[in-house]
Amino acid sequence: MKRITIAIDGFSSTGKSTLAKQLAKALSYVYVDTGAMYRAVTLFAMQKGFIGSGKNDFDGLVRSLEDIVLKFSYNEELGFAEMFLNGKNVEKDIRTLEVSRNVSQVAEIEEVRAKLVELQKEMGKEKGVVMDGRDIGTVVFPNAELKIFMTASPEKRAYRRYKELLERGDNVVYEDVLENVQKRDYIDSHREISPLKKADDAVEFDNSDMGLKEQFERLHNHALHVIDR
Ligand code: DC
Repeated sequence: MKRITIAIDGFSSTGKSTLAKQLAKALSYVYVDTGAMYRAVTLFAMQKGFIGSGKNDFDGLVRSLEDIVLKFSYNEELGFAEMFLNGKNVEKDIRTLEVSRNVSQVAEIEEVRAKLVELQKEMGKEKGVVMDGRDIGTVVFPNAELKIFMTASPEKRAYRRYKELLERGDNVVYEDVLENVQKRDYIDSHREISPLKKADDAVEFDNSDMGLKEQFERLHNHALHVIDR
């Protein structure tokens, strides 16, 4: 069967990664969560004190970019690849609200984007990949055979994220999560470089009122149709 590139973009907490993971599994494709890469760079910046200690030192972060080694390593048990930052599994550490609060600023830095986009292009060059993020269909793989743009209302998305964080044992307040979702929407879609926007040839997918099973079936059928074409 022909192997294609599938780009899934959209706002935060639209369930992109859950769906992308399922789709990759069903097609035996590689799944790449590019948000995890921006989160790992953010975690690095926090650990090294470039952000979070009063004044942000983005120049310092840019100078240290070559010290950052990012790697995905497939976990059989979980069924997806976990993020490693300089050899350490940071899959859990990159999902905190603290990292979510800082990640949009880091994702605005030109040099950070250049580094990560290059890595992403390399990871997808053999095709047979499902990559999710904000600029995959517009910047990373503008020639992807299938582009999906996912949306859902901010309240629905915040509620999903809130439940996820609670399940992990994080002590969070719904209003804070909603505020974070709205702030990130704004920054992600208004930044100068590679803002989040639907590619002209992307299929829009609003899942505000759709269960996971239905979403997967629709997307899977659509992907098989594109692969067959
Ligand atoms: O998908 P996520 O919520 O884990 O992404 C975290 C942040 O990373 C998000 O606020 C925007 C940024 N991001 C980006 O700018 N470009 C991407 N391709 C993926 C994520």
